[in-house]
Amino acid sequence: MSNHNTTQTQQAQSRKDIDLNGLIKQMTLDEKIAQLIQLAVPFYEGAVGAGQITGPMESLGITEETVHNSGSVLGMAGAQDVINVQRTHLSNNRHGIPLLMMADIVHGFKTIFPVPLAIGCSWDMELAELSAAIAAKEAAVSGVHVTYAPMVDLVRDPRWGRVVESTGEDPYLNSLYARAFVRGFQGSDLAGDMDKVAACVKHFAAYGAAEGGRDYNTVDLSDRQMREFYLPAYKAALDEGCEMVMTSFNTVDGVPATGNSKLMRKLLREEWGFDGILISDWGAVKELIAHGIAADESEAALKAIKAGVDIEMMTSCYVSHLSELVASKEVNEELIDEAVLRILKLKHKLGLFDNPYRAADPKREAEVVFCDEHRDSARELAVKSCVLLKNDGALPLSADRKIALIGPFAKNSDVLGPWSWTGSKDAAVTMEAGMRNRLGDAAELLVAEGCGIESATEEQWQEALAAATAADIVVLALGEHSDMSGEAGCRADIRLPGIQLELIRKIKALGKQVVAVLFNGRPLDLHGIYEDADAILEAWYPGSEAGSAVAALLFGDANPSGRLTMSFPYSVGQVPVYYNAYNTGRPQGAPDAQVRYVSQYLDIPNEPLLPFGFGLSYSEFAYSEASLSSETMTESDQLKVTVKITNTGSVAGVETVQLYVRDLSGEVVRPVKELKDFRKVELQPGESSVVEFVLTEQQLRYYHSDLAHESDAGAFVAFAGPNSKTNAALPFKLIK
Ligand code: GLC
Repeated sequence: MSNHNTTQTQQAQSRKDIDLNGLIKQMTLDEKIAQLIQLAVPFYEGAVGAGQITGPMESLGITEETVHNSGSVLGMAGAQDVINVQRTHLSNNRHGIPLLMMADIVHGFKTIFPVPLAIGCSWDMELAELSAAIAAKEAAVSGVHVTYAPMVDLVRDPRWGRVVESTGEDPYLNSLYARAFVRGFQGSDLAGDMDKVAACVKHFAAYGAAEGGRDYNTVDLSDRQMREFYLPAYKAALDEGCEMVMTSFNTVDGVPATGNSKLMRKLLREEWGFDGILISDWGAVKELIAHGIAADESEAALKAIKAGVDIEMMTSCYVSHLSELVASKEVNEELIDEAVLRILKLKHKLGLFDNPYRAADPKREAEVVFCDEHRDSARELAVKSCVLLKNDGALPLSADRKIALIGPFAKNSDVLGPWSWTGSKDAAVTMEAGMRNRLGDAAELLVAEGCGIESATEEQWQEALAAATAADIVVLALGEHSDMSGEAGCRADIRLPGIQLELIRKIKALGKQVVAVLFNGRPLDLHGIYEDADAILEAWYPGSEAGSAVAALLFGDANPSGRLTMSFPYSVGQVPVYYNAYNTGRPQGAPDAQVRYVSQYLDIPNEPLLPFGFGLSYSEFAYSEASLSSETMTESDQLKVTVKITNTGSVAGVETVQLYVRDLSGEVVRPVKELKDFRKVELQPGESSVVEFVLTEQQLRYYHSDLAHESDAGAFVAFAGPNSKTNAALPFKLIK
């Protein structure tokens, strides 16, 4: 067995062809079943009975023998630890089958990038791919083989805590990001490139559609809704070569995904041809009992293995019951063999039979992880992921004005966001550090917390009011604690906590200009902020370089260019609110619409406060001369959509020109707008550019009521503009 320092080329060349089927034939049934279990780290550090398994080891029927034959580990990282555990494991495994080391490396390993919802707002696929490539490199050298990412769940409900992990409400954009992240994680030669890890797209499927925005809640969608909106990004990840799929906790059409043969066998494996590893999400196999489709763990194991779930994460239904199910002929042993073969194939593809330590290298780990080059990339992406939501002239800041930095995120290092467990908050650049670095020692920056995330002391109030009174302008660093989003981080009231709204009121009452910087994991209800702040920068959770990226934007060293990929609702009462919605039979403002009897609320508008695609800049961009190459197109034609953009402002900036289409006459109702393309254009002051999009008949196809994916002849409208609300309408016809 080669040591873990073998060069990449040597490893790729020396890979011996193993007869995996022959190996399976040598394995006992219990050894094969053990390959299908995935346990947490403590089981491999000898902490028998401890660990994150749901219940003590003994009650799970997990013996030491099971552990010695298990197939993979959840949540292990650190080159030396991985080497030690792998070495011990191999000494106990009769066949020399190495462990797969899997972990959640979602938006960075040690160098933490902005949360995916922020990366989504960059509309920059190259940087998104680079962030995944850097995450993969740092993870691989630390011994990780597989990451449970990308998460590509389409989202429409900001009450759901996990919108923070998604890239938003549009299937086309989510698909582009899915591909970019898979390319970044896996590269083009996963077998030979030791700086890459296998990706695992999740959560299959439609986890983001949980009713009420409540995590793990019921999802019930038509096949058509699934295919039109929720499935495309998973398919894009698989088309990009993603090695694994993770099941979702939710039901899909009445059957929990993890036991759903229609979804997993018929669609994922037969229709889409996916033959990689399907892993359950944490405990989802055993949760089939709570869902009510399995009477006990034996039936849960039966339904999951029949649905094609290869690896059971964190529960032990498989190891406790599959052998008896085979004995009773309720499960054909071939089902187990096919699952084991998929697992062994990935181990072989990763070269683990030749070098079970793959890229794990403590020396190189120390050089690569959290290096300056990676942090520079994290800062660049953070700058491009922030979204300027409002600016009445308070930004950019001038360094010669006395600035007060106030709020719970003034000093707070909770800027990495959920799924940053391998990162270090202590190493993150806080708002205070970022602003002091930017201002230099000469300038005076007054800093006071004013209040915590959800509470305040009189002393904090007084400190903040004193700082604000002495300052010319106030920067308020506000937000949600990172535990207020992420998994099971769902909120029914999506405003900032009341104490922070009180802080804004108190500071505003002093008559100072107020710039709000928001650190949060969801679109917020901005009541209490939007009207009082003179400027608002949405920073999300910007990652390791938070303070330096935000400071660069606040002082105009960088020009905000982020564009929202998830609508900001007027209030939670609107939710779900999203741009690609249907018109209804009684849309407000239609030619014959009545005043009252239309689709409306009596107390709030229908429109979100800030729409999909929205974002401001320090530049001003004017659109003109929008036109089509023709007013008709055929299936073989290409329709050109052109629009001129001019930077009428005084600073260079980047505009994201967006192309939408509306199908006015579908066989089923069609969204009032659908994003079809976009172009990022950098313009100097006074500079113009003509952007040309090409529309094809393929882009007009959609799922009909019989699930045929095709276009219809008829009337359409193309829209080109800065966001999903403001754009020039260009009618055309598709002729067939
Ligand atoms: C969690 C999450 C999933 C994650 C897995 C392993 O429950 O739902 O996204 O990858 O468990 O940590």
